[in-house]
Amino acid sequence: MKETILVTGGAGYIGSHIVVELARAGYAPVVLDNFANSTPAVMSRLQALAGRPVPLVTADVRDAVALRSAFHDHPIAAVVHCAGLKAVGEAEGRPLAYYDVNVGGAIALAEVMGEAGVATLVFSSSATVYGQPDDLPVTEDAALRPHNVYGRTKRVVEDFLRDLAHANANWRIAILRYFNPAGAHSSGMLGEASRGRPNNLVPLLCKIAAGELAEVAIYGGDWPTPDGTGIRDYLHVQDLAEGHVAALSYLAAATGAITLNLGAGSGHSVLEVIAAFEASCGRKITRVMSPRRPGDVACYYADPARAEAILDWRAKRDLGTICADAWRWQKNGGRY
Ligand code: NAD
Ligand code: UFG
Repeated sequence: MKETILVTGGAGYIGSHIVVELARAGYAPVVLDNFANSTPAVMSRLQALAGRPVPLVTADVRDAVALRSAFHDHPIAAVVHCAGLKAVGEAEGRPLAYYDVNVGGAIALAEVMGEAGVATLVFSSSATVYGQPDDLPVTEDAALRPHNVYGRTKRVVEDFLRDLAHANANWRIAILRYFNPAGAHSSGMLGEASRGRPNNLVPLLCKIAAGELAEVAIYGGDWPTPDGTGIRDYLHVQDLAEGHVAALSYLAAATGAITLNLGAGSGHSVLEVIAAFEASCGRKITRVMSPRRPGDVACYYADPARAEAILDWRAKRDLGTICADAWRWQKNGGRY
């Protein structure tokens, strides 16, 4: 058995997949979550897929007292920090809440990790920190110009973690910039359980194919892209989870902070995603053309070369697999 890894936000969409991949790789994951955007019902699925008990700490990541207890109660060797708020639109109206949870949570966690002598941390950042990049594919050296509150909270945490590693050479930190995580666990047992109308494209297509929503509004058919719709780098959530396992093994023999793109390295337009989803589910997706969504950008996709070279990791699952797995999850109910 390898070490115990604390996964904050481990009951959420991405964190839950990370928990399963960590267990598969021989680690002992422990979940910390306050269920602000998830449910304890995920835990039984996690235990089943992990094939071992997965301890749960029900706590707010900003709560230093609760964090100290977690480090006291479990032999934690490293932390994967996924807990946070992620709704881009909501963040514009609630900046204080977003800075408090995303930035305040990271500070509280780092402080308690320092006290506990745990110095290995993997942080969930986002390609949102780039805004609209000047060049494609986007490398990690591109300028950081996030155009929303959510992206700025991620940029602040990134800066703070790099400063921490600079100030104290004990820290081993991987800052992972996710492009567009999508899809679900191939078992159909884990996936994104959206509360209310989903914001993101693939979960929305699931609800439309299931007959729960009528149609998708395509946010702009006049972007400067080949078919006029927005292009993104969709990354299967299991590939993303495997990237975290690779990051932890890299950190075992590294010091300092490293920043890496996790993306598939290719872009797909909204129309291409709709076509791939229709092929997976065998149903027609009704769509209407709508104005551009404020804050959206035309096109971005990752240059994942640094992650490939340093972590020996690459995305293995294609857009068809993303859609097929998302649809399997939806057919199983799409919720816990
Ligand atoms: P999610 O909402 O499904 O998961 C986040 C988890 O954190 C939830 O289980 C939630 O209950 C928990 N949480 C929220 N506030 C908390 C708090 N104060 N204390 C303890 N737990 C708390 O979101 P996700 O899609 O799994 O995202 C995970 C991380 O990845 C987030 O940090 C997010 O910003 C980042 N990220 C997500 C995407 C994406 O498209 N899903 C893209 C880039 C980065
Ligand atoms: N889209 C539509 N209609 C919809 C939803 C999305 O046309 O109803 C389009 C968007 O305009 C975009 C593409 O589908 O071109 C993907 O949109 P998503 O909302 O699924 O994903 P985003 O690229 O907007 O979101 C990503 C990450 C977020 C991050 C955000 C910030 O998933 O974590 O970038 O830009 F915060």
